[in-house]
Amino acid sequence: MDGTVSQTENPALLDLVAGERDEVDAVGPRVGGVARAAPAAVEEPGLRSGHEDRDEAVSLTSVALQRPFAFLRQSIMGTSTTTPAVRYLDTASAYDLWSAVYDTDNNFLQALDTREMQSLLPKLFSALADSTLPPPWKLVDLGCGTGRNTMHLLSIPDVDEIVALDLSPKMLDVARQRISSGESTKVTLQVYDLMASSNPTPPPRDSADAIISTLVLEHVPLNAYFAAAKGMLKPRGLLLLTNMHPAMGQISQAGFLDPVTGEKIKAGRSYAHTVGEVVEEARAWGFEVAVGFEERAVTEENWAGFGDRARKWVGVDVWFGGVLRLRGEREDE
Ligand SMILES: C[S@@+](CC[C@H](N)C(=O)[O-])C[C@H]1O[C@@H](n2cnc3c(N)ncnc32)[C@H](O)[C@@H]1O
Repeated sequence: MDGTVSQTENPALLDLVAGERDEVDAVGPRVGGVARAAPAAVEEPGLRSGHEDRDEAVSLTSVALQRPFAFLRQSIMGTSTTTPAVRYLDTASAYDLWSAVYDTDNNFLQALDTREMQSLLPKLFSALADSTLPPPWKLVDLGCGTGRNTMHLLSIPDVDEIVALDLSPKMLDVARQRISSGESTKVTLQVYDLMASSNPTPPPRDSADAIISTLVLEHVPLNAYFAAAKGMLKPRGLLLLTNMHPAMGQISQAGFLDPVTGEKIKAGRSYAHTVGEVVEEARAWGFEVAVGFEERAVTEENWAGFGDRARKWVGVDVWFGGVLRLRGEREDE
């Protein structure tokens, strides 16, 4: 998936133009990013010029934006009986609704993320073990959702405290049920908005050894995200992050089919951050790359492993993930 993805090379965009890809979701308020695949493994990604990125973003976004107008026309005029109406909700309300089916609606990106976390999470703990941060460790799951990955932290003996934070109270309710049915008393769940200047319960300050944060970054601007993560971590603390790939983000958006109303619910504002942009912003906040970022595409060979809904994404980069380390106070030179 290296190199530039042009309109004619990217099958998702071709389908988009042709109006064929019913689950290439309407692009809502999508901000930033480019539909360009970065190198497959990005240890030290070079920064592309903003001019180059902006030019590409403009041309691809203008194609992608044809789609929401088609959806809107259909939902307003009632000209389609097959295309569900799309409803945009603020992020918290969308996830509150999604919580009812989030773990059961066969979202292929979660399935792919689960597979990738099987190798990325051990790399995080290996980096922690090699660090100067002694166990037992305190971890934060930033944007924990229904606790899909929080659960995996419970079984790690050197983790004695987990703080699971999320914007959506109902996603947290599902996480709470899931965790209380397990054995753990080491988890605290808190409603938390990383975009807010204050929260009802303050998040951990400068005290976490590591953060995991999966499929959250597409909902927030990079500077707010790294400000929040940095504020929680000890110096030399680690941040494992995974996200929807911008090549998917340019033509899709987090959302689900509401089984009650039949509507497609879309979650608030979205951002198509590239790996290069993520690493550049992370560096500005004092992070460095600890485990190189990797990107994943859906292919003819692997789609079946992620469920039927993955098939239409064959040929598209859909995921990236890696681990960052907050530099120590005396490492800034
Ligand atoms: C796609 S879900 C991922 C959930 C979980 N990490 C996982 O991988 O299954 C994105 C999560 O980010 C949360 N989120 C979005 N914006 C947020 C914000 N500003 N502050 C905290 N959490 C946020 C949502 O409520 C949602 O639970």
